[in-house]
Amino acid sequence: MTTNLLANELKLPCGAVIKNRIGKSAMSENMGTRDRKSNESLNKLYDRWAKGGTGLLITGNVMIDHTALGEPRNVVFEKGHIDENLKLWTKAGTQNNTHLWTQINHPGKQSPKYLSKTPVSPSAVAFKAPLSAMFNPPRALTEAEIYNLIERYAYAAKVSKDNGFTGVQIHGAHGYLVSQFLSPRHNIRTDQWGGTIENRMRFVSEIYKAMRKEVGPQFPLSIKLNSADFQKGGFTKEESMTVVQYLSEQGMDLIEISGGTYEAPVMTGKSVVVKDSTKLREAYFLDYCEDVRKVVKTPIMLTGGFRTADGMNEALATGSCDIIGLARSLAVNPEFSNDLLKGKNVESSVKPLTTGLKFLDNIVPLEIMWYTEQLKMIGRGENPQPNMSAMKCALGTIWNIGTQGFKKVRAKE
Ligand SMILES: Cc1cc2nc3c(=O)[nH]c(=O)nc-3n(C[C@H](O)[C@H](O)[C@H](O)COP(=O)(O)O)c2cc1C
Repeated sequence: MTTNLLANELKLPCGAVIKNRIGKSAMSENMGTRDRKSNESLNKLYDRWAKGGTGLLITGNVMIDHTALGEPRNVVFEKGHIDENLKLWTKAGTQNNTHLWTQINHPGKQSPKYLSKTPVSPSAVAFKAPLSAMFNPPRALTEAEIYNLIERYAYAAKVSKDNGFTGVQIHGAHGYLVSQFLSPRHNIRTDQWGGTIENRMRFVSEIYKAMRKEVGPQFPLSIKLNSADFQKGGFTKEESMTVVQYLSEQGMDLIEISGGTYEAPVMTGKSVVVKDSTKLREAYFLDYCEDVRKVVKTPIMLTGGFRTADGMNEALATGSCDIIGLARSLAVNPEFSNDLLKGKNVESSVKPLTTGLKFLDNIVPLEIMWYTEQLKMIGRGENPQPNMSAMKCALGTIWNIGTQGFKKVRAKE
């Protein structure tokens, strides 16, 4: 490695400048207060990350409706819900000239059973087994509800800007509501919100326009999008490219590329089918980015699989992406970016997790639970524990899910 491209700044189409090429991708902290506000733990976590050298910090998903949560301790931005501590969160996360963006999300039907009795989705299409054990069958949104949700996304962008966040990202990936609209497997509507890809992307396109109206032309807006859903009958690579092209023309400032859903969780590396050349370059969706780069100039953030300074520099050198997205590496080492920026040939300690028991690995979302524990430790002011036992985490998760189910902690419906 001769030149450390990670240290270069990046100017976005809206004019904002990110001080280097490392972005922390969203990781749901599930750490808010019981009434879904931010708190001291989040401030501590983001203080540590901001001091750790990463140029762009994207928060874990912030929800737009307290009756539709992905996890019980999600932070919510919605009308009538005043979070008086938000400016402490943004003060911590914007130190050191760091960009801090919110990731705005609605889970749609990916809201666990114990939180949503009847979740909403573009269509009343239920998950099949094994996910049907986790999520209740949804009902289809009415058109009036769709317009209401678009307003909610835009309102959350306004709250972000008013409270000192320096940008916003729409969560359009991983099977949540925007992704459900995009997928013909989950969206079988026959009105203007379903059918052709032009109709299926109307929801995200209206969200983008409504957000832009709220925040103005100089505020960074971004989307996290799947390169594909990796499912039969799902959102394809070609459709994803169409969405990227359209949103780029509309003025999107940064497009983050990921892939997969709960049905095919390739975003954390499970069963990703990649070319050998891609494997060598670490990142799961690099070949997709190479194709996207040929059709759009919008800055691209690529997330999933990056572990070494060399691999990251190589991806930047080819021009296929402009920002390296990191998630798990920054959960076990919040100062990893400082090491990368020093130009050392550093490598992340992230390795695949296993309890040693295949059936347990299959029923517990270990990659999420184990790393969430790491975030909680940082939020308590402790150091993460990269050697924490996966078995202990899996058993703790089963216990907690059982207890939550028992208590029937439901969001008001
Ligand atoms: C604990 C945890 C929580 C996550 N939460 C989110 C989230 O809220 N929004 C999102 O877009 N992706 C989320 N992800 C996915 C990551 O942003 C990222 O796409 C994935 O971990 C691959 O990147 P990595 O190989 O650098 O970890 C989460 C991942 C983990 C491990």
